[in-house]
Amino acid sequence: MKINFSNSNSVFAVKNSVAVLMLTEEEVKKSALKVVKFAKEQFDFTGKSGAHLVSFNGEMVVLAGIGEEKKLNAVSLQKIGAKIISFLNASKIKDATLFFGFEIDENGKVKAKGKNVESHCNIAFGALLQSYRFNKYFEKRKSDKELKIKSIDIACADLAAVKKEFVEFEILAQNIFFVRDLVSEPSNILNPESYAEICKTLKKDGLEVEVLGEAEMKKLKMGSLLGVGQGSEKESQLVILKWNGLKNSKEQPIAFVGKGVTFDTGGISIKPANNMEDMKTDMAGSAVVVGLLRTLAQRKAKVNAIGVIGLVENMPSGSAQRPGDVVRSMSGQTIEIINTDAEGRLVLADALHYTNTKFKPKFIIDLATLTGAIVVALADVHAGLFSNDDSLANQLDEAGKASGERVWRLPLGEEYDEMINSDIADMRNTGAGRGAGSITAAQFLKRFVGETKWAHLDIAGVAWKGKGDPLAVKGATGYGLRLLNQLVKDGYEK
Ligand code: BES
Ligand code: MN
Ligand code: ZN
Repeated sequence: MKINFSNSNSVFAVKNSVAVLMLTEEEVKKSALKVVKFAKEQFDFTGKSGAHLVSFNGEMVVLAGIGEEKKLNAVSLQKIGAKIISFLNASKIKDATLFFGFEIDENGKVKAKGKNVESHCNIAFGALLQSYRFNKYFEKRKSDKELKIKSIDIACADLAAVKKEFVEFEILAQNIFFVRDLVSEPSNILNPESYAEICKTLKKDGLEVEVLGEAEMKKLKMGSLLGVGQGSEKESQLVILKWNGLKNSKEQPIAFVGKGVTFDTGGISIKPANNMEDMKTDMAGSAVVVGLLRTLAQRKAKVNAIGVIGLVENMPSGSAQRPGDVVRSMSGQTIEIINTDAEGRLVLADALHYTNTKFKPKFIIDLATLTGAIVVALADVHAGLFSNDDSLANQLDEAGKASGERVWRLPLGEEYDEMINSDIADMRNTGAGRGAGSITAAQFLKRFVGETKWAHLDIAGVAWKGKGDPLAVKGATGYGLRLLNQLVKDGYEK
């Protein structure tokens, strides 16, 4: 779908395009427009949220109620933009022009009530996010979800300012699509080796990209990560992405680490067949790290940032690791493998230790589809947040509220830490009891970050939506990119 900005000055002169009048409850009350009066009389149109297609004086017009003015903010405007796209698409409309923030006289002439640059960008951004489809594998049959709407126009008071402002929104949206594409990609196409190749192509965006294969990781003694991939035909990879936005600066970087299990069968502790296909998404954390570094590079953010992703395929085979095995991590700590399906933390253990010791970052944030338990606790609404630092946790909470990708903090503590002590090694890879599965997983990670400020986001519930929502159609959400882009923008750019 194409997004255009225009300076249309009449809602009735938009050629071949359906006018969408976005009206708050206050505006509906005051409106002099005949079509609005007509709608108030005919179907009690109040401006509460919801869209209506009406034919008036031979023209089709969409009246979109957008609720109370005081409830409008960046995220609510994005959702409104998205819902309008859903509505237009369901109504099989190909082209529409959206009007927000205008006084419209009885002849349909518009007069801007302010510049509304941010608002117009947020509406366009939400509209764009809703238009995403993953259709590349339809050959002989069209997807039922094929997009009908081809382009929209947003009427603007200050065209030049909106176009300039929208550049960063567009970069963010394209990277959200990139993350969604990676997460949606089936595992016969996206495996550790092909994924690392995709990462190498990001040099063209200005990223430094380094790939470590199994031989290099063996030298670094990454026994924890390597154990997970040893049952797979594909070679495990560690990909390091660097964005140096502060040229010639020795400024400490900020670091992001992602779980990149391209398929999680569970290994020898094999998962049940039901829904196992969903485990192609077990690399979602890594995809967000890649998308974030690419976003920072494309918008030339003034920050030094590192992304490290551990890419492995967790397969059962004659060479797979067994429950009861003991592995030695790069940090020197040993791990008893109780369940080969608790593999994400084993991958992250070495990726976190490597990141911490090699780059000495200001903070590390890791993202991982780590536990089913977080889905039980928070469903697809919040990501689980765990941190050893209150100020970093608060910054994430704020960024979550501002971006709409919300987090919910859960505790860490000594009692939970004791649950992962092993009888024969430094730790075991699952908790001893059945409770607190997401916390014991986080407690495990904590043992690999030393004293560095660290936060862990368990995104198992939010990376994929079984049911669509306004800003993401059913499927991969790209959750985490808006959140972390917001965090960096608000707190870490010069
Ligand atoms: N990748 C899964 C977690 C997961 C579950 C992601 C559902 C997305 C949706 C992870 O590797 C896993 O299998 N975790 C186990 C850990 C258990 C064996 C301690 C789990 O949560 O059941
Ligand atoms: Mn698993
Ligand atoms: Zn997993």
